[in-house]
Amino acid sequence: MLSGKTILLGITGGIAAYKICELIRMYKRANATVKVVCTPNAMNFVTKLTLQNLCKNNVYVQEFEVKDFNPEHISLADEADIMVIAPATANTISKIANGICDNLLTSIACAFKKPVIIAPAMNCNMWENPIVQQNLKKLHHTILEPETGFLACGYKGKGRLCSLDKIFDKTVELLNYKPLNGKKIIITSGGTIEEIDPVRYISNYSSGKMGLALADTAKSFGADVTLITTKDTKRDYEVIKVKSALDMKSEVEKKFDKADIVIMAAAVADYRAKEISPQKLKKSQDDEITLTFVKNPDILKEISAQKTSQTIVGFCAESENLLENAKEKIASKGCDYLIANDISRKDIGFSSDYNEVTILDKNGGIKQLERADKMSIAKRILDYIN
Ligand code: PMT
Repeated sequence: MLSGKTILLGITGGIAAYKICELIRMYKRANATVKVVCTPNAMNFVTKLTLQNLCKNNVYVQEFEVKDFNPEHISLADEADIMVIAPATANTISKIANGICDNLLTSIACAFKKPVIIAPAMNCNMWENPIVQQNLKKLHHTILEPETGFLACGYKGKGRLCSLDKIFDKTVELLNYKPLNGKKIIITSGGTIEEIDPVRYISNYSSGKMGLALADTAKSFGADVTLITTKDTKRDYEVIKVKSALDMKSEVEKKFDKADIVIMAAAVADYRAKEISPQKLKKSQDDEITLTFVKNPDILKEISAQKTSQTIVGFCAESENLLENAKEKIASKGCDYLIANDISRKDIGFSSDYNEVTILDKNGGIKQLERADKMSIAKRILDYIN
């Protein structure tokens, strides 16, 4: 059932850690590769020897036991298909929710871009503590809530680790979640570069992160992905590097007929220099210089007009009157969905790792997605438009 999948199992320092030995056996019986990372406190409840024998792999605890050139918090995160943290203590949950990386497990969690399951287990008063609850809300991972019953600390209440079957089933479900299986998706990203002369250009602040998050997520959802981007990136799907709006248009058009979904997350320049000077423009005696710009084609509008069966999604970058302008834009561009984001904010949008968006559809539907990291926003957008 889990053949070819690598599960990174994070164990933290709670009494329920002893139960995780059986979870490792369940994953192994399903043919998964299991790698275990423990917090130093987890070692008070289970031994490295037991875990190593069960998972048939090294068990990682210390951050600086570096065996080769690869930092382990990055290589372990890259190798795994899913991270399962069970039991997750209030301490570890709160650290991950606040980006604290003070041990190997929390560092990996911070770098982990694929699905994460968190199965909390703790005393019921700790579970009910509003700070712990707020921290849980900050996490956009799959949380398997604890069960109610007798707790090892002597209390009766909510805090027992949920059943191992539940953790196992959720792992299988998330690893096999492929809602875009068989679909061909084109995603654009980055700011286009419009040359003026051999040394100068105009562009914008787009980092390409939003488009990349969409492409990575679409790939993990099973899609056949083509990313058309102005940024350098190496991925295990097709990446086409472009520079200008005209280059981007030509690459989108080549792929358009065969696509099921097109998402235009790129910040495409509306204008380009009328002429690109073949030589560097020289400084003159004049205090002013005038350059003439001409309109670029509107790629989104053009493909929306040519659409047959494709789902076409545009983005909308606004610095004021977000919803009002987005409503006008979806009507004028003719796309199926428009994802509006406020690019005047520093904590979302351009270059940020986070975004907060409003999804508009052509029938007038509106869906607000609250601020989250771009991978979580990407997942929710893809689930919504599919
Ligand atoms: O890359 P990041 O740093 O992660 O930032 C993400 C982002 C802010 C760039 C992204 O979320 C975003 O908003 N992308 C769209 C930026 C943009 O060009 O918005 P716009 O409102 O000007 O254009 C609307 C839509 O038309 C966009 O889908 C754009 O790709 C498309 N367009 C625009 C002009 C043009 N000539 N051709 C187009 O196809």
